[in-house]
Amino acid sequence: AATTTSLADKLTSLSLKEPLPKYANCFPEINTVDVYRAHLTSILAEITGVDASIIYPALQWTQTLEKGDLVLPVPALRIKGKKKPGELAAEWIEKFPESPLVHKPTCQGTFLQFFFKVDKLAELLIPSILTRGKVFGQNQFIGLKDPEGPSKGRKRMIVEFSSPNIAKPFHAGHLRSTIIGGFLSNIYEAAGWDVVRINYLGDWGKQYGLLALGFEKYGSEEALQADPINHLFQIYVAISKDLAAEKDEMKALKEAGKDISHIEDEGLDEQARRYFKAMTENDAKAIEQWARFRELSIKRYKETYARLNIHFDDYSGESQVKQENMDKAGKKMEEMGVSEESEGAIIVDFTKHVEGKAGKSLERPIIKKKDGTALYLTRDISEMLQRVEKYNFDHMIYVVASQQDLHLKQLFKIIELMGYKDLAKKVQHINFGMVLGMSTRKGTVKFLDDILRDVGEKMHEVMQKNQAKYEQVENPLATADILGISSVMVQDMSGKRINNYEFNMDAMTSFEGDTGPYLQYAHARLCSITRKAGLSTEEVASANLSLLTESHALNLIRVISQYPDVVQNTLKTLEPTTVLTYLFKMTHALSSSYDHLRIVGSEPELMKARMALYDAARIVLNNGMRLLGLSPVERM
Ligand code: ARG
Repeated sequence: AATTTSLADKLTSLSLKEPLPKYANCFPEINTVDVYRAHLTSILAEITGVDASIIYPALQWTQTLEKGDLVLPVPALRIKGKKKPGELAAEWIEKFPESPLVHKPTCQGTFLQFFFKVDKLAELLIPSILTRGKVFGQNQFIGLKDPEGPSKGRKRMIVEFSSPNIAKPFHAGHLRSTIIGGFLSNIYEAAGWDVVRINYLGDWGKQYGLLALGFEKYGSEEALQADPINHLFQIYVAISKDLAAEKDEMKALKEAGKDISHIEDEGLDEQARRYFKAMTENDAKAIEQWARFRELSIKRYKETYARLNIHFDDYSGESQVKQENMDKAGKKMEEMGVSEESEGAIIVDFTKHVEGKAGKSLERPIIKKKDGTALYLTRDISEMLQRVEKYNFDHMIYVVASQQDLHLKQLFKIIELMGYKDLAKKVQHINFGMVLGMSTRKGTVKFLDDILRDVGEKMHEVMQKNQAKYEQVENPLATADILGISSVMVQDMSGKRINNYEFNMDAMTSFEGDTGPYLQYAHARLCSITRKAGLSTEEVASANLSLLTESHALNLIRVISQYPDVVQNTLKTLEPTTVLTYLFKMTHALSSSYDHLRIVGSEPELMKARMALYDAARIVLNNGMRLLGLSPVERM
């Protein structure tokens, strides 16, 4: 049977005389296209005289298959002499031997184009997909510390993402961070990195003193237990109003020349300051209350994250930065001449450390206020150093909105100026644009749960429009929920990260166009085909793949062969859209194939062969969707 033969045996049977040579980053056992790369490299090394190590990485995959399955930019071989790339290409084509795997190349401009012999491609590819299943497309070797040596351990990646603020709305920036961070974690995990997911909560500062006062005034234990996130937010809104009123009152009294000392001494602001001070001094009662708010919020967040297939290994946060570490870092900055005093506060004047425009653009951030309070930036500096201690990571990604570009630039530069040069090279800011007009049906900005509930309801309405189908879905509400989440996520991941986009509930929940529901539908349809065909795994595995001859079948095989390369490319772009765009290309190829590649009514042998192809397509689609963080549905 096709799936049990080893790659080596298979290549021999394809009358490839020699075993494949080994190249860096060549993984023929898990990426069929690498078989072609290796094969082409040996041929080209022979006829061009160029070293294989130059040829192999120059063989590029293509977005449009009309241009070939692989292309070689002739100038990439850096051949000296008078001959133009076109002439060289013509010579090489002339010399190109008969191959069992590829057709004679063609020349387009300065590119050599290679088209695979698709019957052979199918024989190598489809069994490999069927046997590798859920891990097809992954390459666990990339994350190894030393790919050549035996089990030297994996590299460790920290992805910090989501990072909402307790008692404040979970805004669009947090939503995007959550989606993109979840995806980045998946992609590195698929590449064999040891990934640590950190949620860096906004959970510290005077406002949590204020929140505690608010709870005394407006809080209810019952409401807190039932819905901590909303309840704390409501309390925070109410007490903030009181605080604003107090400020107005003070202003009015001052203008009237009246005494304000009673407010200064006993007002809300002062009480909040004192409460927070008690928190920083580890006052048992104050800390206990705050810890409860934090724990209950985290518990609730976890439930929501689970709906998005996301978990965190560490709920860190601004509160987790130790005062002694901030003191140490502060001292070091002072000693290294990074920080200085300015009007009683401690600042970093970047114009003194970085020349010209760049220095100016980094501004003069405050590290410590006059009253001694540490700031957001100060905490981030020490948190980073704490993470080095705790995790000894090889790389760390911060997934934070582009509004905070400056903040992260300042952070990274300070770390470098403090002498942590290697560390500064290991940290990276992955930024993203804004979501415009994100609102729920009941109003503007709310919590993630509200958005998910809204899109879920919308999808439920859409599903009900097709009653016949609706009745077949076992748990329509759960399915609607998943479809709603897919809608939001796919819309978010459609463009490049840095682009802003408009939150458009109608567009994202439509089955038309490149949407989440469309992708889910494509998957559910493949599952339905599998169910209806009712073939056993063995039957499909024994399929005679040479029966796949129609142009639609050949095209589909070529498209699905690209998946491992797409995943590799995504490690370079770090853009979810790289995967998503591919999945849409693949599902379009699929949907135009159904009429031409029928299962029902076909000859038994042809049926098996087509089923093998559809199974392979389903595996690729399923793997791609899960990589993006989506939950593929089997019926809808
Ligand atoms: N909690 C912050 C906010 O909502 C985001 C934290 C980003 N991460 C960081 N290490 N600064 O704006």
